Amino acid sequence: MKETEHYEVSRINEQHSKYVKLLENLCMSSMIENNNTCIGQILSDLSAYSQSHHEFEESLMKKIDYPYYDLHITEHTKLRSILKNIFLDLDQMDTRTIMTVLLEMKNDSISHILYTDMPLIKYYKEL
Ligand SMILES: [Fe+2]
Ligand SMILES: [Fe+2]
Repeated sequence: MKETEHYEVSRINEQHSKYVKLLENLCMSSMIENNNTCIGQILSDLSAYSQSHHEFEESLMKKIDYPYYDLHITEHTKLRSILKNIFLDLDQMDTRTIMTVLLEMKNDSISHILYTDMPLIKYYKEL
């Protein structure tokens, strides 16, 4: 693997760390009653961050002609759709429901990193 390619792997790993931190902030914020302004701001930050992160992974997959590209894109689209729907429905949910949906979203996102992103990184490293 070339030096620039090492950089791409470490950039994805760094983005995942930041992504998980935002998810943790979100779940912590949801434990406070009437905190929708703060939750909405973190959701907005997470939405922008996931868009740019997904685009980075997608450009890498195109570059290496990744065989599971379509499946991976489908999961990205689904994750961003879940995020958007939570943002839109935030004011209709009580604290307990917000905590539940955010925890589910966090689990879905971490599962994606473990079972979809990690195989991509492994494939890329073995090229
Ligand atoms: Fe991904
Ligand atoms: Fe990712």
